[in-house]
Amino acid sequence: RTRLHTIAAAAAPVAGERRAKANIDWDSLGFGLKDVAATMYVAEWTPEKGWDSGKLVPYGPLNMMPSAQVLNYGQAIFEGMKAQESAKGRVVLFRPDQNAARFKAGAARMSMPSVPEDQFVEAVRATVENNLDYVPPMGKGSLYLRPLLMGTGPILGLGPAPAYTFAIFAAAVGAYFKGGQLTPIDLIVEERFHRAAPGGMGGTKAAGNYSPVLVTQLEAKKNGFADVVYLDAKTDTYLEEVSSCNIFVVKGKTIKTPPLSGTILPGVTRRSIIELARSRGYDVQEAAVSVHEAMEADEIFTTGTAVVVSSVGSMTYRGNKKAYTAPGQAGPVALEMYSALTDIQTEKADDKFSWVYPV
Ligand code: COI
Repeated sequence: RTRLHTIAAAAAPVAGERRAKANIDWDSLGFGLKDVAATMYVAEWTPEKGWDSGKLVPYGPLNMMPSAQVLNYGQAIFEGMKAQESAKGRVVLFRPDQNAARFKAGAARMSMPSVPEDQFVEAVRATVENNLDYVPPMGKGSLYLRPLLMGTGPILGLGPAPAYTFAIFAAAVGAYFKGGQLTPIDLIVEERFHRAAPGGMGGTKAAGNYSPVLVTQLEAKKNGFADVVYLDAKTDTYLEEVSSCNIFVVKGKTIKTPPLSGTILPGVTRRSIIELARSRGYDVQEAAVSVHEAMEADEIFTTGTAVVVSSVGSMTYRGNKKAYTAPGQAGPVALEMYSALTDIQTEKADDKFSWVYPV
């Protein structure tokens, strides 16, 4: 497949030289838009032409009418991905084929035209290539990529949009939760609201899944928690996930994570941790985990592209707080999995699963 032409001259290959351009304080990266990349990818779909090949343009507003389907009826999905500088001195993506496949499945669930998987991967690669000066030095963070697919064409009656936009913007980011990557997070089990219900769209990375959680998340934050854990909508018994990440529960050498029953987001990091933990001798089960079982566990951690692997310091359920780790200290399995994953992602370890994709 032909590569997309980038709009600026190719970035200098020497890391120090290329990074000098972006003028970023690499030691104070958070998870935000402070260091948003200069260019973004935009492609358009029309019924007559299908997808155009897309182009890289300066980061800026998208054009759409107030009647755009996405603004009225929420036809939108997104992805989260990271490009990182590796020990081999190059910049690499992590399993972009997995995001491409999930993007395709999500488009089908939301009645949108899917983006061909090779176009998706090439668009992500070109966006990174065009913004190499925003990729942090190894170990300082990553270039977070946010692919979007949305119904931007106008419509009044409920129906799919007549036109679509596929866009990718990027930003240099550091740790997702405040306190930094290795600081354990305190979670509270949410009992009033559910994130998803059977037959709904919890398993889709739909934009609409992420704002209903804010009412509980903001309250939890006010009370000193980093985030909430959702329970299943049918029985209020089993763990589902956290607002922004999947959850794993450790007891001895057994690690459990909720199965992909349609209400759980099929995380790329989730899948990778399952495979990695199995290869390291853990018995990993995709099985229902009751909140009571979780309160008795040795350790809990969460996974996601943004959060990577985050140790859970405590979980509070009906006023009972269970502490899993010593204050400020990540749990040993979370640490092991964090290192195993990030060592592959930054090519410090052998890429034995072929997960790394050079830009
Ligand atoms: C990611 O982990 O990349 C996500 O898309 C989750 C988002 C809530 C930050």
